Amino acid sequence: MRKLTYYVASTIDGFIAAEDGSVDFFPVGGDHGPAITAQYPETVPTKVRDALGMQSANETFDTVLMGRKTHDFGVKTGTSSPYSHLRQFVVSTTLLENPAPDVELVSDDPLAKVRELKAERGVGIWLCGGGELAHHLLPEIDQIFLKLYPVVLGSGRALFGHGAGVDPIDFHVVSSRVFGDGVAFLKYSRS
Ligand SMILES: NC(=O)c1ccc[n+]([C@@H]2O[C@H](COP(=O)([O-])OP(=O)(O)OC[C@H]3O[C@@H](n4cnc5c(N)ncnc54)[C@H](OP(=O)(O)O)[C@@H]3O)[C@@H](O)[C@H]2O)c1
Repeated sequence: MRKLTYYVASTIDGFIAAEDGSVDFFPVGGDHGPAITAQYPETVPTKVRDALGMQSANETFDTVLMGRKTHDFGVKTGTSSPYSHLRQFVVSTTLLENPAPDVELVSDDPLAKVRELKAERGVGIWLCGGGELAHHLLPEIDQIFLKLYPVVLGSGRALFGHGAGVDPIDFHVVSSRVFGDGVAFLKYSRS
């Protein structure tokens, strides 16, 4: 059975974006970016991969799931197919059709879709975000790969949305690394 991994960047206080959806408060540069990207090149948008001449195989993830608001972010930057090197799904009740020929719309029961995908052959499934979708998919999240930035934002889009509370779910740290620029990369597995 393949795994669903929520691989995401967060502030210390658990926000993945500002209220307006912007993410430019995450500092770029430093040593964390190249190191993490080298490990997970699949998570680099296709446009950037193409610009950098990246042609690495999809070794960790071959499928990506996005909430509609995360997908909107890509649309605003000029593409409705941000990760065309992966099999892409967008979860939404308001989109009426696939947003791009290679992006499949999931309009009902994303948990059932995840269970179906997990039973298929392949490598991992990347839950790209955002927090609202992560909240709904929590029962099926097997791993959390957290890029924790040394920033406090105070408010914004939460790592697991603002939905109803859940019973505590235990995860344990599988590996951790703190980079020279202060970003911590923490890998958690569901206990
Ligand atoms: N820091 C990071 O690494 C990172 C990663 C990803 C995204 N982001 C940022 O996070 C923000 C978006 O996150 P978000 O939490 O606000 O929203 P989101 O989870 O990306 O999208 C929420 C939308 O997904 C759909 N959805 C979620 N659960 C659903 C369900 N159970 N059934 C059907 N549809 C469902 C709904 O779309 P409809 O309203 O169409 O029904 C909902 O409004 C963006 O600003 C993005 O840039 C940051």
